[in-house]
Amino acid sequence: MINNIKTRIKKELELKLKEIFKTDISVVVEEPKKVELGDISIPVFSVVKVVRKPLPQVLETVIDVLKTLKDNEIFEQINSVSGFINITLNKEKFSKLVIEDYNNSISNYGSSKIGENKTVCIDYSSPNIAKPFSVGHLRSTIIGHSIGNILEKCGYKVVRINHLGDFGTQFGKTIYAYLNWGNEALVKKNPVGELVKLYVEFNERAKTDKSIEDEARKIFTELENGNPKYVKLWEIIREESLKEYMKVYKLLNVSFDSYNGEAFYNDKMQAVVDELKTKSLLKKDQGAMIVDLGEKIPPALIQKSDGSTLYITRDLAALFYRKNTYNFDEVLYVVGNEQKLHFDQLKKVVSLMGYDFAEDIHHINFGLVLQDGKKMSTRKGKVVKLEDVLKEASTLSLDYINEKNPGLENKEETAEKIGVSAVIFNDLKNLRTNDFEFNLEDMVAFVGQTGPYLQYTSVRIKSILTSVTEETEELDFSLFNEGHYFEIIKNISQYEDTIIKSKEDYAPSILAKYLLNLASLFNSFYAKEKVMVEDLVERNTKLQVLRMVRNILNDGMDLLGMSVIQKM
Ligand code: ARG
Repeated sequence: MINNIKTRIKKELELKLKEIFKTDISVVVEEPKKVELGDISIPVFSVVKVVRKPLPQVLETVIDVLKTLKDNEIFEQINSVSGFINITLNKEKFSKLVIEDYNNSISNYGSSKIGENKTVCIDYSSPNIAKPFSVGHLRSTIIGHSIGNILEKCGYKVVRINHLGDFGTQFGKTIYAYLNWGNEALVKKNPVGELVKLYVEFNERAKTDKSIEDEARKIFTELENGNPKYVKLWEIIREESLKEYMKVYKLLNVSFDSYNGEAFYNDKMQAVVDELKTKSLLKKDQGAMIVDLGEKIPPALIQKSDGSTLYITRDLAALFYRKNTYNFDEVLYVVGNEQKLHFDQLKKVVSLMGYDFAEDIHHINFGLVLQDGKKMSTRKGKVVKLEDVLKEASTLSLDYINEKNPGLENKEETAEKIGVSAVIFNDLKNLRTNDFEFNLEDMVAFVGQTGPYLQYTSVRIKSILTSVTEETEELDFSLFNEGHYFEIIKNISQYEDTIIKSKEDYAPSILAKYLLNLASLFNSFYAKEKVMVEDLVERNTKLQVLRMVRNILNDGMDLLGMSVIQKM
C-alpha cells in the first residue's frame, strides 16, 4: 500500500518535473531513515544535479508539485530538511485507505501480479534414494516449499520438482549386495535403513575383494541398458525409498508436481553431449570429456573415460527438458552451499552454449544445521531419522498442552502441527545462507522468536473474536492517530511489499521476521487496550485491527508452510 503510494508519487513527480524543467529526471521516493522524520522521503540532490538550479528553488518546485498530486489528500505535512523532502501521512486517512484496501481483498490481501504469465520451476528436496533423508534435504524441502508458496502469492505459475537422486553407480553396488546377501523381508520392513546397511557392507567387503566392484559396475551398465531384472529391483528400491520420504512430506504437508529424478534423463543426455560437440565445447582430457570454463571456474566433467555420465550431465539434460516442457522464466535449485561450484558450472556451460536463459538459473543456497556447533548429520549405520525428529517436536508440544489445557480436543493433532511448524519456522526465520543451531527445546517454546509464539498469538486473537456478540459496521478512524494503532496499520500496509521482497531475495526469512514483528506489535497493543469496551464503535475498530492481524498472521504462516492451528 505505502509502496503503491510511493510508486505513484514517483511517476507523477517525474512526469510533471519533466514538463517544468524540459528534461528527463529520475526521482527517488523512499522511507526516511528515522520514523520521526515522517513516512515518505524524497532526496532532491539528484534533481538539483540534473536541472542545475539552486537547491531552494528546486525544493520549492517539488513541494509545489507534490501539493497538486491526488495523494496530497493523505499528506498531513510536507517538510524539507537538508536536501530531503519528508512527507508525513495523515494517520486517519491513510488508515482508512489501508482498511478499505484490506476489506476489498481479504484472503487475497498481500497477493500481487508481478508474476502474472510467468512460470518458475523450483527444484527442491531431491533426496538420494536408498539413502537417508538428510538434514540438508529437510532444509531444502522447507525452504523450497515456502519459496514456491511465496511465488504463487505473487502470481507466478510454479512447477515443483523433486529431482530424486535415483541414478548412479552406487545402485550397481546396492543391487549386487541385495542379490548376494540381502533379505527381502527386512528391506520391505525398513527399506532405507536396510539398503544403507547393504551398501555399507558392500564397501566393507570390497576392501578385501576388488572383484565385486567389477560385478557392481557390470550390473549398473546392464541397468542402464534396461536389463529387466535389474530395472525391476531398481524400481522397488526407488518405490520403497519414496514411501519412506513420503512420511516426512506428509508431516510437512509438502507435495510435488514432478518426481522425475536423475534416471529420467538417462536417455536425454546423449543429445546434450552431441550439442556440446557440435558447438565445439567438448574437449578430450585424459580420456574424459570436459568443457573448459575459463580461468575462474574449474572445467566441467561431462563424460568419464568409460563413457559414463555425471551429475552435471544429468542436470544439463534436466534443464533443457524443463525449458522445453515448462518454458520457465526462472529455474531455482534449492541446494546447500556445498554445491555452489556445481551450479556455477551448470550456468556457465549453458551460457557458453549460447542460451540467454543461463541468467534465469538461480542456485538458492543454504547453510548447515548444527548441533552443538558441529554439522548435524545422519551418521553411518546409526541413522538420525528426521521423521523421529519431527515426532519429537510434536511430543514436546503435547507435553505443553497437557500442562496448560489437558482437556483440548484432538490434542495429538494440534501438538503435531505446533511441533512440525515450530521446526519449519525455526529454519525459515534464519537467513538461509547462514548455518544455524538446532535446538528443539528452544524452537518449540511459546515465547521468543518461535513458530509457537505466532500460533499462540493467532489463537489468542481468535478466542477474542469468537467471544464477540454485538457489532456495528462503523469504525472510529480517529483512534489511528495513536501510535500503537498506527504502527499496526503501517505494518499491515507493508504486507504485500514484504512478500515481494521475499520473492526478490528468495528469502522467506524476510516474511518470517515481518510476522514476528506484527505479532509483537499486536501483543503490545493488546497489553494496552481492552477490546470489549462499552463503546461499540471503538470496540468494532479494535476488532477490525484484530481480524486483520490474525488473517495476515495465518496467511503468512501458511506461506511459510506452517499448518495454522485454531485452538490450543
Ligand atoms: N540429490 C542431490 C543431493 O542430494 C540434490 C539434487 C539437487 N537438484 C539438482 N537438480 N541437482 O545432493
